[in-house]
Amino acid sequence: MNDKAPRLLFEKSRPGRGTDVIPRSDVPDRPLDSLLPASELASNLVPLPELGELDVVRHYTRLSQLNMAIDSHFYPLGSCTMKYNPKRNERLASLPGLASVHPYQDESTLQGILELLYDLQGILGEIAGLDAVSLQPAAGAQGELAALLTAAAYFRDRGEKRTKVLIPDSAHGTNPASAHLAGFDAVTIKSDSRGLVDMADFMSKHDDQTAVFMITNPNTVGRFDPQVVEIARALHDRGSLLYLDGANMNAILGVVRPGDMGVDLMHYNPHKTFSGPHGGGGPGAGPIAVRASLAPYLPAPIVVKRSDGVFALDYDRPKSIGRTRSFFGNVGVLVRAYCYIRAQGPEGLRRIAEHAVLNANYLLALIKEEYPVPFGDRCMHEFVASARGLARDRGIRAFDIAKGLIDRGFHPPTVYFPLIVSEALMIEPTECESRETLEEFARALLEIAAEDPEKLHEAPVTTPVCRPDEVAAARSPILIHPEASRAGIER
Ligand SMILES: Cc1ncc(COP(=O)(O)O)c(C=O)c1O
Repeated sequence: MNDKAPRLLFEKSRPGRGTDVIPRSDVPDRPLDSLLPASELASNLVPLPELGELDVVRHYTRLSQLNMAIDSHFYPLGSCTMKYNPKRNERLASLPGLASVHPYQDESTLQGILELLYDLQGILGEIAGLDAVSLQPAAGAQGELAALLTAAAYFRDRGEKRTKVLIPDSAHGTNPASAHLAGFDAVTIKSDSRGLVDMADFMSKHDDQTAVFMITNPNTVGRFDPQVVEIARALHDRGSLLYLDGANMNAILGVVRPGDMGVDLMHYNPHKTFSGPHGGGGPGAGPIAVRASLAPYLPAPIVVKRSDGVFALDYDRPKSIGRTRSFFGNVGVLVRAYCYIRAQGPEGLRRIAEHAVLNANYLLALIKEEYPVPFGDRCMHEFVASARGLARDRGIRAFDIAKGLIDRGFHPPTVYFPLIVSEALMIEPTECESRETLEEFARALLEIAAEDPEKLHEAPVTTPVCRPDEVAAARSPILIHPEASRAGIER
């Protein structure tokens, strides 16, 4: 930390400065220890900092300004797709008729929101080229898990005992984690020299024990794998299923339908594709779409339209894997996705994908001399450049580049992922950025490549916290500030 680090509320606290004004209670006092055992009272009393309201407002306003956010900075975080969330969607999602309904209301009073969710199920099915949709999962990773549990129920119902899920080595870490949680063995498939699925490795590992192949297409190195149809055929020939990690749908929206590629089931990341808040693994949504043969096993309830035109929640699904989340899913995010899709229309969705790919390729072309891209010199919506040469020749590592970008007013790209690229810089500009922003970012990257390495090793120098010890922070986090501990809060 340096002297620009903001002080905590506990450090700013002064006895007696609290300004809470609580009217006198007209309910007779009951001693606290008549309500709770004394031992509980002693350990749970939290001494709150005492500050005036203005000090608190300034404190949080300043903290919010220290953040980098998509509304204030270019944020090319590959794989995490920080695209702009239109403010219109926020306003629409806050309309009382949408935001204030309660899931325990009688269905007859929820017809508006149920119709919206029913339409969204249909739209997501249409974009996927698949037959049935569940909106329940609350994040992409939970969508993966829900889809794999759906696949497991499908095989169980057919009396088949399949144990393996095949996953390319370029996949997002959530893929093997989901496979494991769903009770499968995760088997790694190598990438070839183009960054695509190594077909020989796939063929040698695919057998009658294979339940699912999880492909990400385009994949995390920003390449579209044209072998997908061949892969689907080989899988279907042996009764296995093809799953699409649909996190990268932003690159192919309205251009290709996963169902037409041979995909049997997939998840969406609406917060990556259809704009919505994204942070720290949520709050998000991870709807899944499946072929008709898998539909009976989807999580329940599903929103249905009865023959009399009334919308209802269908719980009567005896083969369903059950709930994966409370109520109907993360409705606020789903409403934003619905508004975004309806505002764009089919043509707009296709334009999103085309511009996302164009922007990524323009940026790649601007920087590739200094930052080579190991897998091809064209990409889809994102690309992975390598700082390996810079690290070897000048001692400038991906980590230093990330820190140097912060000093130049840019959020860093994703670094050191995927693992198959050494000194990886995974860059995803999204369709939202202007040509000027892309050029400014490219200039910053080129400037960093020519920077004095010693200076870069000190970066960032413009932030309150410069180079925290990230390993120590992860391994031995100190969760309570000493001031707060002194004030009596225990671990
Ligand atoms: C390729 C890929 N798969 C899966 C996920 C997991 O999605 P979520 O963060 O919504 O759990 C991500 C997240 O960004 C991703 O990029």
